[in-house]
Amino acid sequence: MISINDIYERKTRLSYYLYREARSVMPYGVSSNYRYWEPYPIYLVKGKGSRVWDVDGNEYIDFNMGFGVLEVGHSHPRIVEEVRRAVEDSTILGFEYEKSVELAKIICNRYNVDMVRFSSTGTEATMHAIRIARAYTKRKKIIKFEGHYHGSHDQLLINVNPMRLESRVPTSPGIPEETLSNTLVADWNDYEGFERLVRVHGNDVAAVIMEPVAMNMGLIPADLDFLKGVFDLARDYGFLVIFDEVKTGGKFYSGASGYYGLKPDLIILAKAIAGGLPLSVVAGRRKVMSVIGPEKVAHGGTFNANPLSVKASIFTLTELLTQNNMYYAYRLNSLLSKGYEDIADDLDIDLSVSMWGTSGTIYFAEKVPKNYKEFVRIDQKPWYVYFLNMLAHGIIPMADYDEQWTISIQHTEEDITRHLEVAQMVLKKLKEDYKL
Ligand SMILES: Cc1ncc(COP(=O)(O)O)c(C=O)c1O
Repeated sequence: MISINDIYERKTRLSYYLYREARSVMPYGVSSNYRYWEPYPIYLVKGKGSRVWDVDGNEYIDFNMGFGVLEVGHSHPRIVEEVRRAVEDSTILGFEYEKSVELAKIICNRYNVDMVRFSSTGTEATMHAIRIARAYTKRKKIIKFEGHYHGSHDQLLINVNPMRLESRVPTSPGIPEETLSNTLVADWNDYEGFERLVRVHGNDVAAVIMEPVAMNMGLIPADLDFLKGVFDLARDYGFLVIFDEVKTGGKFYSGASGYYGLKPDLIILAKAIAGGLPLSVVAGRRKVMSVIGPEKVAHGGTFNANPLSVKASIFTLTELLTQNNMYYAYRLNSLLSKGYEDIADDLDIDLSVSMWGTSGTIYFAEKVPKNYKEFVRIDQKPWYVYFLNMLAHGIIPMADYDEQWTISIQHTEEDITRHLEVAQMVLKKLKEDYKL
């Protein structure tokens, strides 16, 4: 019998050759660790609407959507036009670009914040948020949650995806112990645990940072009571609440803060807000943001608020990611999520579905986990077989077992139907092979 690895290798020969070449000039042949998987990754050539094509000419319906960046879909014609016109007026002006003011106002209205500062990536913006919080509170410690990811700077790279369940596990070699000594780790959705930690350290804590809907261990929303408890403790002990909305900010019209009806002190936006171009934001209450400035808190970046990203973002937030269009994507997401639930019922397999806004994911487990400790107990072997099989049939379901799908405003009902047809076939086979 021919194995899924054989099928994958036959379909992706040119990717394999490119991978062999790439390995000699880039570690693991990729520009980000998250783009590598076994036996080797595919190399993409272009994308349009809901589709991408690889070097072998295979077409895929893409549900990874640039790890959540492409809420507007690939190469939206109106974004292409906007960027083409922007290029003619320079890609970078050096001094402040007039339209950054317009974009700042749009973001203030939509996300209920008073002031914003722009940068290019989520990593930069979370790094800035921490510095701002420390300067504002004049305290050092930061609380983060296990399983939450805030980018690839050192300070929060602890207990992101530990395979060992110990209390403190740095996520990478090369991070000095001292750099992490002010980072405390708490369990997601565990109010009692959080309160215990705060009772000991609360007066030294500058901020708690979280993904309000955790999207780096699949998709695990916060319980509202848990969140409210965290806000109350933050007020009582005088530390800030930071929502890392790098993912959530583009998956619900006004992000998770709008969804939960809460106003954190700082929020971070990135990924989807500029229609596929690099732009990130740290934003929040006026008194907190006011610590930034020359001879005050450092905040800089050559490419911050570059004209291409700013123009694309204004267009994205006002014309494309409208309430109506977001609702359209949400409705398709409900169809996909319900479709997976029906398949699980029909095949009688342990598969659970979690959805929020325009994203969702599946777990090969009876129930959606509540936190990282439950998540890490799930056997991920079936997921990899599912993933390679989905790829072999022209569907990129999501990027990894700890990721989620993104439904863009350019996906169609036919895309969802095709995704579910393939999933039904793949999961039926998996049930036989893995006794799910
Ligand atoms: C919640 C969250 N925060 C921050 C980041 C880092 O963003 P970037 O990759 O743009 O640096 C990511 C990236 O996936 C993320 O998911």
